[in-house]
Amino acid sequence: MLSLTRLGYLALVLLSASQSAVGRELWLERDGRAIELNPRRFGQNHPAVLTKLRAACGKGVCAKLAGAAVTPLLAAQPECSQQDMADQIIDTAKQFNGTTQAAMIAIAQEYRQTEKNTPPDFKTKPPTLRNSVFCQTAPRNAELNGLVQAQDPANDPNTFFDPATKASVKLGAQANTRPFSGAGVVASTE
Ligand SMILES: *[C@@H]1O[C@H](CO)[C@@H](O)[C@H](O)[C@H]1NC(C)=O
Repeated sequence: MLSLTRLGYLALVLLSASQSAVGRELWLERDGRAIELNPRRFGQNHPAVLTKLRAACGKGVCAKLAGAAVTPLLAAQPECSQQDMADQIIDTAKQFNGTTQAAMIAIAQEYRQTEKNTPPDFKTKPPTLRNSVFCQTAPRNAELNGLVQAQDPANDPNTFFDPATKASVKLGAQANTRPFSGAGVVASTE
């Protein structure tokens, strides 16, 4: 059981996350779902790229994409969800004219490089800020080759959160602590 003091501390950390004091939970979430019901908060808890996506194409298509694009950025989502969503944006772009397509592809690339939430590891004192693990399959669209999600520089560079196990993983202990290096990767940051 968590002591009351610890619970109080945890609540404080969670509250301050929205002020970026902790920074890992960049997008507000609770129980694995985005918090977006409070209209006063709307917009603050979404990456700017989703506002752009919403407006990028008509007939409600991009509004629907933007709505779907929040969840893949939440901590518990599988490591490839964000890339799959970026692929879906590019697939969907193909029905529109060249100008709209180009804009949507640029948005998909930006979205792919957006930071994903990771929960701090509260088992350590102070809590360890963790990186998110990397998708280990190539994207379907070449426009996404070599692109990965950003990591907060404040994170412990050696510690990752794996949503598959909900546990901390040390750098190098699993392949997914490094960007996918298979076919299609154009440039490595190593
Ligand atoms: C492409 O589609 C958009 C949205 O329907 C429209 O505003 C724009 O004028 C079109 N551009 C061209 C070059 O057809």
